[in-house]
Amino acid sequence: MSTADRRAAALGALGITPWVRRDATGRDAAVADPAPVDAHPVDDMQPTASRTTDADPASLDWPELEAAVAACTACALHRGRTQTVFGVGDRAADWLIVGEAPGAEEDRRGEPFVGRAGKLLDAMLAAIGLDRGRVFIANVLKCRPPDNRDPRPEEAAACAGYLHRQIALLRPRLILAVGRVAAHHLLDTDEKVGRLRGTVHRHEPSGLPLVVTYHPAYLLRSPAQKRKAWDDLLLACRVAEEARA
Ligand code: URA
Repeated sequence: MSTADRRAAALGALGITPWVRRDATGRDAAVADPAPVDAHPVDDMQPTASRTTDADPASLDWPELEAAVAACTACALHRGRTQTVFGVGDRAADWLIVGEAPGAEEDRRGEPFVGRAGKLLDAMLAAIGLDRGRVFIANVLKCRPPDNRDPRPEEAAACAGYLHRQIALLRPRLILAVGRVAAHHLLDTDEKVGRLRGTVHRHEPSGLPLVVTYHPAYLLRSPAQKRKAWDDLLLACRVAEEARA
């Protein structure tokens, strides 16, 4: 299959209707536009006071960090998890994609974004010529919150050192925050995603460029927003390219 065919297939999977632009000669030029995309019981428990390991995540390398996450008991979510979801992908990737927290399927399989929203994320990546082996995907939380509720501030705070260390070890050219929870956590803001997308932010303390887009689960519910998500991906591609130059 040619690159163009693969791209067309990926865009089709995203539900993007390709449009055709007339070029200066009046001929129809097929444009790769697209745009996109259709997206336990611990609440009554008290948080635990400490981690199993006392090591500061900031001092850990990849294997130590992964082991620390797997053994973490820093918040009550550890009691309801099947396993932690550390993150997946290339540990030298240019792109870091940050989501919210594992859902039921991710908790079962130990990998982020493997449910319906994950399929859509894969299709979005395919549309820009990437796949999950060429990026790194992680979440704000490494354990599944019950009933897929939002992470609580104390849970996000207990987990923050792990994501920060992942960012420091990876040093990606670009961070793509998918959805409100990731954007708010990484940018320390409570601004709406609709107002955060479309510009290049700076993640602190890393100083790395960060682009915000909609969460694929939201896009599944609101397919009309897929075109904006496509614009966000194009912005992210441009930023990653510039960082490479
Ligand atoms: N949603 C997320 O934000 N992360 C996952 O890993 C799965 C769904």
